[in-house]
Amino acid sequence: MTTQIKDLNHYKEIYAQSVKDPEGFWKKEAESFIWFEPFDKVCEWSFKGPDVKWFLNGKTNITYNCIDRHLIDRADQVAILWEPNESDREAKSITYQELHDEVCRCANGLKSLGVQKGDRVVFYMPMVPELAIGVLACARIGAVHSVVFAGFSAQALADRVDDAEAKIIICSDYNKRGAKNIAVKDVVDEAMNIGCNSVTNVLVHKNTGEKVDWSDDVDLWWHDVVDNQGSMCKAEEMDSEDMLFILYTSGSTGKPKGVVHTVGGYMLYTCFSFRNVFQYKEGDIYWCTADIGWITGHSYIVYGPLLAGATTMMFEGVPTYPDAGRFWEICEKHKVNQFYTAPTAIRALMSKGDEWPEKYDLSSIKVLGTVGEPINEEAWHWYDQKIGKGKAPIVDTWWQTETGGIMITPLPGITDTKPTYASYPMPGIQPVLVDAEGNVLEGNDIEGLLCIKHPWPSMLRTTYGDHDRCKNVYFSAFEDMYFTGDGARKDAEGRIRVIGRVDDVINVSGHRMGTAEVENAINEHPNVVESAVVGYPHDIKGQGIYAYVISQDKDLDDDFKKEILEVVKKEIGPIAKPDKIQFTSGLPKTRSGKIMRRILRKIASNDTSNLGDTSTLLNPDVVDDLIKGAEAV
Ligand code: PRX
Repeated sequence: MTTQIKDLNHYKEIYAQSVKDPEGFWKKEAESFIWFEPFDKVCEWSFKGPDVKWFLNGKTNITYNCIDRHLIDRADQVAILWEPNESDREAKSITYQELHDEVCRCANGLKSLGVQKGDRVVFYMPMVPELAIGVLACARIGAVHSVVFAGFSAQALADRVDDAEAKIIICSDYNKRGAKNIAVKDVVDEAMNIGCNSVTNVLVHKNTGEKVDWSDDVDLWWHDVVDNQGSMCKAEEMDSEDMLFILYTSGSTGKPKGVVHTVGGYMLYTCFSFRNVFQYKEGDIYWCTADIGWITGHSYIVYGPLLAGATTMMFEGVPTYPDAGRFWEICEKHKVNQFYTAPTAIRALMSKGDEWPEKYDLSSIKVLGTVGEPINEEAWHWYDQKIGKGKAPIVDTWWQTETGGIMITPLPGITDTKPTYASYPMPGIQPVLVDAEGNVLEGNDIEGLLCIKHPWPSMLRTTYGDHDRCKNVYFSAFEDMYFTGDGARKDAEGRIRVIGRVDDVINVSGHRMGTAEVENAINEHPNVVESAVVGYPHDIKGQGIYAYVISQDKDLDDDFKKEILEVVKKEIGPIAKPDKIQFTSGLPKTRSGKIMRRILRKIASNDTSNLGDTSTLLNPDVVDDLIKGAEAV
């Protein structure tokens, strides 16, 4: 197993070592895995390409390390504990042995459909065990999985399937989420009508068993393909740098990009970070409430915990169903030891009152985690006091889809914690703050743009099908550094606080969204001439979506707003629907025609006392109109 840090001195010691001799440090950690053939070099890298390789020529399979390796000593230990949407339905336990057999069956099933190493398989599924099994089955045979969050629209799904040129889509019939029953297969059918020409089969897992439309040419039931397969399937020998998965995420321009992670480095880093950030101990029950459709679910529901031989919980439902006590009820019921969620969920549950957590025994909780967006002080303290009872350290973990694993975080019981601060870099991670020109800001008590200096094993390798985009977005802003897109500050003692995005990416309920993407969706409405989208502070969601819309030939009324929301829902999904829409006759533009978003952000945030210099605007008058108009929104 990878090293588990014991105390502060140990952290300091191995951090220093990881900076002084990164290759030596990671070599030792990597040797704790099973390699079919050993690697002959630890790392080869240049951020110019970028061209980054870890554990060169090493051969392994991540599922062998997630599952087979544990069969000697933990075959009967629960690997995945599944809690259904309805609190009166029974939880399911899948042991490591059962997981092995299920993954192999599914892998053999995929093979029978002609899926081969390197083929892409898209998942569009609720949080059922078959999603984790399917993902691992892909990794077993070297197919590249790409999980699309099941809240995305048919159009968004088709865009991702087309970009990945996926061979198979795996979905379920329906998705029970809270009180809703979502017709998942219908969305896939619609996506298949819009695009998805590369798809040969849709594999449908029977979840609720309700009726679905069926196309005999492409649709197959999971149980027909998988259930009768053998429970042994050799783990494909994968090169350390073979692709493991693609995960689409939003950027400041264009369509979502497919972030590519590879086998060896991702395997090492998710295991190492999981064991340290959550201080997982033998027998603990670990629960991350994320969806496997996001990177948090990949790294810290599936791969990290299984690599570490943990018991990882998967929850099908939502925090407020059947009531706002659901999370806490589950924590009590399964005696959860590590609990990892997003600030949005904390804020939403905090707003429902203290009586909900007070009903349950939360004394099993040893570590609390948060991820996905900055956590505000009030939420931090509520989490600390009402859930952790002041005894469970909060790990405010900063990282990104692109980083593959947690980068900056306190270590519970080892380093100190400070509200709203992600605090300290993980071993092997070298964050720096730079100014707009890329000069590294030395010392403490500084604010700047967050970059990472040296490669780390689980960093993205490329953006699928468009390596230049990877270079331009992450490695071109500053020389020889990975640029995160985030702004950050360091306090007087050097703890890091990540403030938020400095690009046109917004973070709504912990979901990352490009403003350009939402604008493109709004512009699909035939009566919209132009739109501009910005984020504004939102009590629960962190950021809300504020859309300025210019239109012609249309009554600017609530019906029109509803139509716009429908278009956004259709193009991206309900998560991208603007919270506020303001109709306007113009947008503040520079003489070169660029929208001055700074002004729009201030107006949307009701912070118009100091709008800065507006004299360079082509149309300064529009600013007053926008301010007046905002009052009525
Ligand atoms: O702005 C940062 C914010 O979420 C972004 C990454 O989003 P995504 O790729 O969807 O991954 C989310 C889960 C890892 C970052 O650029 N972010 C994430 N964690 C934190 C955070 N902002 C502040 N504090 C955090 N702990």
